[in-house]
Amino acid sequence: MSLPTKFPKNFQLATATAAYQIEGAKNLDGRGFSTWDSIRSENGRIHDNSDPDLSCEGRLKYKEDVALLSKIGVTSYRFSISWSRILPDGTLKTINEDGIQFYRDICLLLRDNGIEPIVTLFHFDMPLSIYDNGTSWLNKENCEHFEKFADLCFQKFGDLVKTWITFNEINMQAWSSVVKIEGELWLCPDRPEIENHEQAPYIAATNMLLTHAKIYRNYQKNYKETQNGLIGITNGGRFCLPASDSPADLDACNRALDWLFNYTIEPILTDSGDFPASMREKLPFLPKFSEEEKKLIKGSTDFLGINYYLSHIVRNLNDGEEPASQSERDAAYAFNEGKWEKICGETWVRYAPDGLFGLLKYVRDKYNNIPVFITENGCMDLVGGEGRKEEEILDDKHRIKFISGHLEAVAKALEEGCNVIGYTLWTLMDNFEWDDGFGVKFGICRVDFDSPDKTRTMKYSAKYYQTFIREFKKHH
Ligand code: NOJ
Repeated sequence: MSLPTKFPKNFQLATATAAYQIEGAKNLDGRGFSTWDSIRSENGRIHDNSDPDLSCEGRLKYKEDVALLSKIGVTSYRFSISWSRILPDGTLKTINEDGIQFYRDICLLLRDNGIEPIVTLFHFDMPLSIYDNGTSWLNKENCEHFEKFADLCFQKFGDLVKTWITFNEINMQAWSSVVKIEGELWLCPDRPEIENHEQAPYIAATNMLLTHAKIYRNYQKNYKETQNGLIGITNGGRFCLPASDSPADLDACNRALDWLFNYTIEPILTDSGDFPASMREKLPFLPKFSEEEKKLIKGSTDFLGINYYLSHIVRNLNDGEEPASQSERDAAYAFNEGKWEKICGETWVRYAPDGLFGLLKYVRDKYNNIPVFITENGCMDLVGGEGRKEEEILDDKHRIKFISGHLEAVAKALEEGCNVIGYTLWTLMDNFEWDDGFGVKFGICRVDFDSPDKTRTMKYSAKYYQTFIREFKKHH
C-alpha cells in the first residue's frame, strides 16, 4: 500500500503560516502595532539584521496565496488572525472593520477553493499598546482583552471557521512571555506578587491556561450550537528519549517530558486538573489552581495541537535533583539540540521522525487518546541559501525526505491506534523566522525577497506534497 493511501478519508493534510510571519503591511488598513514590530526594530535583535519592513506581503497577495494552496491541493490551511489588525490597541475600544473584512475574504476564498480554514488566535504577536501595560501574559487584564478578542472572532468569523486554536505553543510562550530581549529575563521589579523570576513563566502559563479554558467555555455556551466548531490548543511537541535503559535515565526522561511538554496540557487533559506531580514536588512557588479553576480547565479542549520538530536525548546527571531554571535543566539533562542528522548529501537538519511516532503513542496512552492535530512539522534550508543557484534552492531533497519520513511516522501511529486527525506542514512559504529573520527558511515555496512582487515558486517539496495529496484524494 502506498503511503498516501494509509491515511483515513477525513484526515486533513494542511500547511500553515502565521500573521506576523507573512503579512507585512504593518501600517495598512488601520492595523495597530504589535510586539514584534517593536522587537524587530531593536538593534541587533534579529540575527540576520534584516530590514524591519521586509515581508512576504501576504496581506496584499492573499488571493495569489490561496491559489497556490489550491494548486498544492491541501485540504486545510492554518493561519493566524493578527489581534492588532482587528483591535488596533488590543481592546474593544476600536474595532477595525477593514481587518475583519480582510480575514473574512481569506476564509471565503479558502472555502470557495474547498480548503478548510484553521485559525490560530494567538501566534506570538500581541498588540503593542497592551504589552506596554505589563509583560504580556503576566498581566490578567491582557487575558481579559484576549478573551474579548476571541469572542469577537467567533462572532465575526464563526460562520466560516470551524477549527480554532487558542494559543500557539503555549508551553514555549510561557517562557518567552518573560524574556524582554534575547537572554535578558524580565525581573518583575514592579510586581511584588511574583516571588522570583523563576516563578514568572509559570504565572504566565497559569494565566494562559485559565484564559484558554474561559474561551473554550464561552464557545460551548454561546456558539457551539449555532456554529458547531472545534476549539483546540497547540503545544510545542518535544519528545524525549532516554540515553540508556537505566532506571535513572528513564526517570529523568519522564521528568523532562513533564517539564518541557506536559506541564501546559496535563491540567487540561487529566483528571488532576493540575501541573504534573513531579513539578509540584520540586517547585514550591508553582501557582496553585483553586478547585473551581481546576474544574474550568479540565477537559477544555476538543483536540490537542502538536507542533513537532525535534526530540531530546535525556541522561540523568544530577541524581534526580530538579534544577529550577531552564538553562540549568538543559545542562543537567544533557539535552542535545535534537537529533541532528545529515540527510541527502550535505544538508544537516534535525531529523527525528521516530520521536514523532514515540510522542504520538505517548499522548495516546497518557491522555486517553485525545484527537491530535499535528499543527506544525517542517525543516529549514540550513546550508547555502543566498549563495546558491535558483535550481539548487528549489531542489530541496532533504525536505522531501524529512516530510515523507514524518508522514510515515504518522501512518505508523495511525496503524497503532493513535487518534491523529491531521498533519500540517510548516510552512507554505519562506517567511520571517522570528529572531532568525529571513535568513532561516522553512518554506515549501520559495519567496524571492529581492523581487518587487515577492514572487513565490514551489520548491520540489511542495510538488512532492501536491502529488502525495493528489494520490490521497484519488484513493478516497
Ligand atoms: C514554531 C512556531 O510556531 C513558528 O512560528 C516557527 O516559525 C516554527 N516553529 C519554526 O521555527
